[in-house]
Amino acid sequence: MIASSSSLAEHIMARCDVLSTLTEEPGETTRPFLCPSAQQVHDAVRAWMCEAGLTQIHVDAIGNLIGRREATGRIGAPALVLGSHLDTVPDAGRYDGILGVLLGVAAAESLRETPLPFALEVVGFSEEEGVRFGVPYLGSRAFAGTLSPSHLERRDANGRCIADAVAAFGLDPTDLPDGPYRPADMLRGYIEVHIEQGPALEHAGAPLGVVTAIAGQSRLQLRFGGRPGHAGTTPMVRRALRRDALAGASEYVLAVEAMAEETPGAVATVGQMAVIPGVGNVIPGQTDLSLDLRHADDTTRRTLLDALLHAAYQIAERRGLEFHILSETHQDAVPMDAGLSDRLVETVATITMAACPTLVSGAGHDAAILAPHVPTALLFVRSPNGGLSHHPDEAVHADDVATALRALIAIILRLAAECASAGTEKDST
Ligand code: HGY
Ligand code: MN
Ligand code: MN
Repeated sequence: MIASSSSLAEHIMARCDVLSTLTEEPGETTRPFLCPSAQQVHDAVRAWMCEAGLTQIHVDAIGNLIGRREATGRIGAPALVLGSHLDTVPDAGRYDGILGVLLGVAAAESLRETPLPFALEVVGFSEEEGVRFGVPYLGSRAFAGTLSPSHLERRDANGRCIADAVAAFGLDPTDLPDGPYRPADMLRGYIEVHIEQGPALEHAGAPLGVVTAIAGQSRLQLRFGGRPGHAGTTPMVRRALRRDALAGASEYVLAVEAMAEETPGAVATVGQMAVIPGVGNVIPGQTDLSLDLRHADDTTRRTLLDALLHAAYQIAERRGLEFHILSETHQDAVPMDAGLSDRLVETVATITMAACPTLVSGAGHDAAILAPHVPTALLFVRSPNGGLSHHPDEAVHADDVATALRALIAIILRLAAECASAGTEKDST
């Protein structure tokens, strides 16, 4: 089995290489929600799902690719769901999201002749990163039935709404769900495998880790409004004469960094900035910027967010600028299912013959959206190079992918045995 999981791991990584070439930007991996290259990814993964014995394969109204095999001897049994996301950030690595989908396909392939008391589904979620519309997890929100009208009102940089994007992809926006696809008792559980994207497992010398909770996050779009003016003739008198929106925003970026550094466990990032009019001889009249704030404890995150917004208003006041919050999305910290996660920890420890680390995830994952609705576990695979991710040099070790595959197969078999001994498909976690 070890030899086969190692060769399967090489196979999985080769498939990650293939998908990394399906992109909107030649020479890098850039695949936002429902872009044309997402169609090519669907075609490739659909074929691999078919080879793996996932006979019922469809694309839902939000662009999730879903493959399913029925329980042995029974149609319509509750499903154990595996998967992750297929979209990427700009100039991404080749494993973020993709590895979890392809490990799910490989586990299904390894188990295609194995009787299972529950159905097995593998999902490639269409949108997790939140890059195109500024709101993350559209795919898993639709799958969980928590897509809201406020999500659908969002527009992308070209002014297109989500319904337009869905229709342009050849799907029917009137099919977008306003509730769960099926009752919770038709879902046995959700297990996501994902690269850690951080340094903890590398530091611990562990190939795998089990996530106990996903940190809460706040994502905002902010605006400093000043007054455009002539760069060469306006004296350097803040407020009275110069209302430089970029200088104000820049002071704010450093304040965000300093305040987050002073808050243990907090991470805060300004990743986007748009300067208007953005020409060298005009004082910036407007600067739009993003704020991404995360913390494992929701009260600490909310308190820090209040302080960060207060700091913005103070900087604006001092400089004679306006400050506005253009949009905000907040996701509280989400605990993973203790029963399923404990089983996964035991399974990993058996396979690695070492203690299995547990950790909080600073990165968001589709597991955060499904966890409130179905028993959910998140298995991390070590990220070498200090956890480098959202970067083309994102990496994984083939041996760790093989170990992750063995752990995924083992936990599925354990859940199957528990179901069989309980005599039902009902959740035994
Ligand atoms: O940004 C995140 O937390 C994840 O990569 N979507
Ligand atoms: Mn990501
Ligand atoms: Mn991801």
